[in-house]
Formats: sequence, C-alpha cells, structure tokens
Amino acid sequence: NNLDTLYRQVIMDHYKNPRNRGEFEGETLTVNMNNPTCGDRIQLQMKVEDGKIAGAKFVGEGCSISLASASMMTQAVKGLKPEEALEMSSIFSDMMLGKDYDEERFDLGDIEALQGVAKFPARIKCATLAWKAMEKGLHDHHDS
Ligand code: FES
Ligand code: FES
Repeated sequence: NNLDTLYRQVIMDHYKNPRNRGEFEGETLTVNMNNPTCGDRIQLQMKVEDGKIAGAKFVGEGCSISLASASMMTQAVKGLKPEEALEMSSIFSDMMLGKDYDEERFDLGDIEALQGVAKFPARIKCATLAWKAMEKGLHDHHDS
C-alpha cells in the first residue's frame, strides 16, 4: 500500500544519503558493534557535552536497513539527554517487537518508517544494530 511505499522510500533515502556518516575528531564515546547473524559491523561515535548528546556519527558496513536505521538514530538522538536517548531506544525496541509503542513521547520522524521491519524477524537485528551501539556507549559512559 501507499504507506509501505512511502516508508520504503524514506529508508532508501537514508541509505543512499546517510546523515551523520563519518567520524569525529577528538574526544568521543566510541562503540563498535556487530550483528552476529551476518557479521556486519558499525562504529558509532557520540559526543556528550553539558549532559546532552551534542552529536553522533557512524561508519561501517551493513545492509540498507542497518545503515538507514543508523542514519535515523544519529539524527534523532542529537540534543537529547543520555537517559532520553535510552528511553527512545526502548520505544524503538517496542516498535521492532511489533508492540504498541509510545508515539507521543518523542518526535520519531523518519524512524517510524522502520516499523514494517517488525514483520521480518530476520531483519530486526539489522534495524537495532545502531541502537544497541548507542545503548552500550551511553551505559559505558554512565559507568565511568
Ligand atoms: Fe541478512 Fe539481516 S542478516 S538481512
Ligand atoms: Fe547485516 Fe543487515 S544484513 S546488518
């Protein structure tokens, strides 16, 4: 249907024109994460300044869904407090599990284009790869 077509276009746009692809210079939280089912990997970097995520960037190899999701995630977490980004990740995880998710808490924007992935269990790890990296980076940051 039309919504599926629109969502596919949003995903392909992020895949072909990734936002925040690259690396920061200087001090960052850096996390490497791989998808055990296919071996694809990404590196995520985040700058946390004054209690907020000032920016996030990624590099890596993966399928269209994993890279589009990384692009969307790095866009969405900018300006959030770490605990808010973790909250957004749990909303995203609900979306990926096909559960009802809280659409109101954050402006999810393009991220909702990934909800169709929930219908394909084999692809869920692709969509969550960058989010797992973000969670790990922020937890490690918290513990240090
Ligand atoms: Fe191949 Fe994700 S493991 S599509
Ligand atoms: Fe490897 Fe999707 S197939 S991340």
